[in-house]
Amino acid sequence: MKHSIADGSQIYWDGAHYDAFNVPYQDDMKFYLAEAKKARGPVLELACGTGRLTIPLAAAGVDVTGLDLAGPMLARARAKAAAAGVKPRFVKGDARSFSLGRFKLIFIAFNSMQHLAAREDIEGLFSSVARNLAPGGRFILDVFNPDPRCLVRDPDEELPVAYYDAPSGGGKVLVNERYSYDRAAQVSRLTWTYRSEKTGRSEKKRLNLRCFFPEELLALAHYNGFDLLARYGDFRRRPFGPDSPKQVLVCRPRVQ
Ligand SMILES: C[S@@+](CC[C@H](N)C(=O)[O-])C[C@H]1O[C@@H](n2cnc3c(N)ncnc32)[C@H](O)[C@@H]1O
Repeated sequence: MKHSIADGSQIYWDGAHYDAFNVPYQDDMKFYLAEAKKARGPVLELACGTGRLTIPLAAAGVDVTGLDLAGPMLARARAKAAAAGVKPRFVKGDARSFSLGRFKLIFIAFNSMQHLAAREDIEGLFSSVARNLAPGGRFILDVFNPDPRCLVRDPDEELPVAYYDAPSGGGKVLVNERYSYDRAAQVSRLTWTYRSEKTGRSEKKRLNLRCFFPEELLALAHYNGFDLLARYGDFRRRPFGPDSPKQVLVCRPRVQ
């Protein structure tokens, strides 16, 4: 079954495949765990997916809620949490419009904000975050620092991006990527072709990622009523600079 989220991305159709694909990614874990503990209160992860971060946070004693739009991702998150013996709250909802309470920390990790392409989407995100933060609460987001070398990639070029073990003994899956940058919308339009070695079948899925350029991202936070507390270029808290792979922003609403 194809599963599209609001921006047309289709890669969240199956949480088990998502996890098998992303298994090695751990770079941000220590950072978000430290921030969640520092918050000393309820934490909300937006676009929590299969609970890659939510579940370890809950296991570390953090009072954490995860919100996501994709049912298959949440189903997988709930099953993994039960297997781990932890009980984070998982909620089906939209990061652009939610009302879940008052949190000391809200974060949106692993480039998930790049699924919000339109100005109205971003406005919805920031206003919902402001409404759901307790006094003194913080908002953290991380997105890529767009690399101009990627943006000019030949759209006909196909490159391998993953080779993983399909869930339930389904054999190896090779994922090849085509990448086309839409300069008008500032959206990277990717097509991932999943090829099962076992069955020989291929399936194409779309992934759209809005690019946020550094000064633009600061302006969006500012004009949506947030002050910047810290800006890092990676999860080791190195200062943001031209060669930084990531933009990690820690901010809080100007008026609380
Ligand atoms: C790259 S995954 C990240 C998942 C998880 N945070 C992680 O670190 O593994 C992006 C997630 O964003 C979710 N998503 C996309 N648009 C959303 C929206 N408007 N509201 C809530 N979740 C959304 C997708 O369903 C997907 O689970």
